Amino acid sequence: MKIFMIASEVAPLIKVGGLADVVGALSKELAGMGHEVRLVCPLYSGIKKIGKWIPYNIPLTVNLGRENLQCRIWESRLPGSEVETYFLEFNEFYDRPDVYGNSSRGPQDNDRRFIFLSRAALNLCYYLGWIPDVIHCHDWPTALVPVYLNANDFYEPLGKAASILTIHNLQHQGHFPYSSIEYAQLPASVYRPDCLEAMGHVNFLKGGIYNATKITTVSPEYAREILKPDNGHGLHHILKLRAGDLIGEINGIDTSVWNPQSDPLLPATYSISNRKGKGLCKAELQKELGLEIKAEIPLFGVVSRLYQQKGLDLLAEAVAAIMETTDGQIALLGTGEKELEERFKQLGERFKGRVGVQIGFSDQLAHLIYGGSDFFVMPSRFEPCGLSQMYAMRYGTPPVARSTGGLIDTIDPYGKGKRDATGLLFADATPEDLGSAIERAAILYRDQPKEYRRLQLNGMRKDFSWKNPSATYENIYRWAVETRKQAG
Ligand code: ADP
Ligand code: GLC
Repeated sequence: MKIFMIASEVAPLIKVGGLADVVGALSKELAGMGHEVRLVCPLYSGIKKIGKWIPYNIPLTVNLGRENLQCRIWESRLPGSEVETYFLEFNEFYDRPDVYGNSSRGPQDNDRRFIFLSRAALNLCYYLGWIPDVIHCHDWPTALVPVYLNANDFYEPLGKAASILTIHNLQHQGHFPYSSIEYAQLPASVYRPDCLEAMGHVNFLKGGIYNATKITTVSPEYAREILKPDNGHGLHHILKLRAGDLIGEINGIDTSVWNPQSDPLLPATYSISNRKGKGLCKAELQKELGLEIKAEIPLFGVVSRLYQQKGLDLLAEAVAAIMETTDGQIALLGTGEKELEERFKQLGERFKGRVGVQIGFSDQLAHLIYGGSDFFVMPSRFEPCGLSQMYAMRYGTPPVARSTGGLIDTIDPYGKGKRDATGLLFADATPEDLGSAIERAAILYRDQPKEYRRLQLNGMRKDFSWKNPSATYENIYRWAVETRKQAG
């Protein structure tokens, strides 16, 4: 099959969160299965130019607003794969290190930036003379692609392509003023409640949900949750309407990158049969974050975006109590809301030697936290899938997580007599519930080393690879192609 991925981020070149990991790893896996996979992404200035990059001489024209915009195409391979990857060089929108926002210009032009990505990606197919069978888009930034395919390109060659929209996070929908429809050169008729209009605004994600041939989300549990008013972020009605075409499939992880046996970012590697290296990672992590270097103290790691979704305000609230009730340490790496960053910095000062905090984005430290911690903390208010808990389990670091979304689907909860448990789950998004789960984990670590080890080994033995999920995506693509054929 010819598969075209359109995405606002892709690992290992540019990453804000798990979406980048999924786009990179799924593309690689599908190409490995013999599919022709091509991928397009903006050329942000923060992109790591790994490998060979070829510029195209003829510019790509994109008509938007009242302008004919010209953009330069760069071609490269997604590292470690056969995935032909195209980058859109258009400095007015993308010559910024970050993906979704920028402090100097603000994110006000995000509608135009991602309209540009969506339209340019489709024009690129015509430019290359390549018509994919399936176009796979991700979240609101590329959710206009299915709208274009139905509204503008239906009778063009691309109109035959099936579209898949994956919802990684329903909270972010892309709300913009009406002018974005004019800028996109979409017909005014798409501004209606059963397409792009929502509460007097344009809603990119809603338009994508209406128009995509099939919709996927990143875990079966999240697929169920978003049909309910409480978790539907205002879109549960339309999701219910399309429920027959909505599939929840759990993400995989790139097991070649996330492998404690060969991870070059770890100070020492280790495996199921020889976990000595994990102790060295722990000591290095304690050193790096100014924690007391002691093997017997349970170390709780966090790597996360610091936003309401992730529930880390609950951890901030619970830290003082955790310091009282356990002898544990906390190692936190994160960036996001300034207020929360500040709170954690203060907690690091207040509990020096027991709470180590680094604000920022660091792949190296992230790997060290997965490798060097004894538990991984994820108190998410909601979690569509979550990759971090899977990385943690693979690194022998049982998660302590809230039972929601993909965390339910990927963690076997610890409980009396349960021999297959891989982590601890707690129910309520409160500092108390989180605190007592951490307390239980600390007791388990100290008093029941055999049980703790079983938890570690169970997690390390689990298959979190893309093997099964990519086979499901292959089926979804086939199903979508059939459906699209019938529509034409
Ligand atoms: P989300 O996409 O909602 O942030 P996921 O668990 O799916 O959550 O994926 C998060 C990914 O981003 C993981 O690979 C995690 O290690 C990484 N990550 C998050 N914050 C940071 C950070 N500050 N530094 C390095 N990696 C980070
Ligand atoms: C989103 C979700 C996260 C998921 C990731 C990749 O960012 O918040 O739960 O794992 O996308 O699908």
